[in-house]
Amino acid sequence: MIVLVATEEHLPGIATLEAECFRGPDRWSAAAWEEELAAQDRLVLVAQDTPGRVIAAATWQVVLETMDLHRIMVTESRRREGIARALFLGGLEWGKSLGATQVLLEVDHENAPALAAYQSWGLRPLARRKDYYGSGRDALVLATVIDDDWSLPDDVQRFFPEDKR
Ligand SMILES: CC(C)(COP(=O)(O)OP(=O)(O)OC[C@H]1O[C@@H](n2cnc3c(N)ncnc32)[C@H](O)[C@@H]1OP(=O)(O)O)[C@@H](O)C(=O)NCCC(=O)NCCS
Repeated sequence: MIVLVATEEHLPGIATLEAECFRGPDRWSAAAWEEELAAQDRLVLVAQDTPGRVIAAATWQVVLETMDLHRIMVTESRRREGIARALFLGGLEWGKSLGATQVLLEVDHENAPALAAYQSWGLRPLARRKDYYGSGRDALVLATVIDDDWSLPDDVQRFFPEDKR
């Protein structure tokens, strides 16, 4: 598996993954992903196991000292292998290089796999936004700080080819 900065050529693979991972109003349109790719303050990462097959994607925004994780998704057959963790940590490296010192994200309070993943990566609840995703679907706002001495852990560096960063 390798992790790459996404380009337009990855959009069809991202759209397929989006359709697999999200339903109904939670699903982003192709246009929404195009916007993520086009915006100057975003980083979209994709993971591929074979050329052209997108098995995971994540998108981030950095504004001043804060980075937001907008989306992270992994194809169902490849979950619990640490792929989301690799994308998360790759995003952190990018944000830190731009001066970010904290990470924020929102997650559906009933999304147990995502909550477990975020907590295992050190994020902690900061606030709750009632009905954020629709009636009865609150968002938890989670946060963590990026320490000055933080660097990409050795065990994930192999997923990030130097010439593709
Ligand atoms: C949330 C998601 C991205 C996690 O991806 P993943 O590649 O399976 O995550 P990782 O393998 O990096 O898991 C990291 C840790 O998170 C926790 N975790 C992840 N999924 C879990 C689950 N289903 N149950 C319990 N803990 C879980 C574990 O602590 C795991 O470490 P471990 O496997 O060593 O125990 C994936 O489940 C997914 O794509 N879900 C659908 C899309 C989604 O809801 N995205 C989040 C909102 S944008």
